[in-house]
Amino acid sequence: MAKVFRFGVSLDKDLLEKFDRLLNSKNYSNRSEAFRDLIRHELVEREWQQGKEVAGAITIIYDHHKRDILNKIMDMQHDFQKIIISTQHIHLDHNNCLEIIAVKGSPAEVRKLADTLKSIKGVKHGTLNMSTTGKEIK
Ligand code: NI
Repeated sequence: MAKVFRFGVSLDKDLLEKFDRLLNSKNYSNRSEAFRDLIRHELVEREWQQGKEVAGAITIIYDHHKRDILNKIMDMQHDFQKIIISTQHIHLDHNNCLEIIAVKGSPAEVRKLADTLKSIKGVKHGTLNMSTTGKEIK
């Protein structure tokens, strides 16, 4: 296990109260873990900005009855197969499908795939969950 260092943080009362309310609302058991997560969040954002290898998930919701939509979504995933790790398809109801596409690769490629899928006619909603391979953060 990596060596743990302790250091003091000075905050004005108002900001500390806001921080405590925030960590309570997010169910953190202590300030240290909340603080560590804030740092990790910044580090992951930086990985995306710096073009390092990242990981994430794209989710899309669509009506599979819409003309050609399945072919378009399938074609797109074949075009980007180098960055797609796996795809999960869930039939939400009679019309709607939820697809979760796990990705790993350059941020530019991942964003391009997410934007392209979202722009397909008939895709009702799409999100890109920007995460990390975990190699660069502890
Ligand atoms: Ni379906």
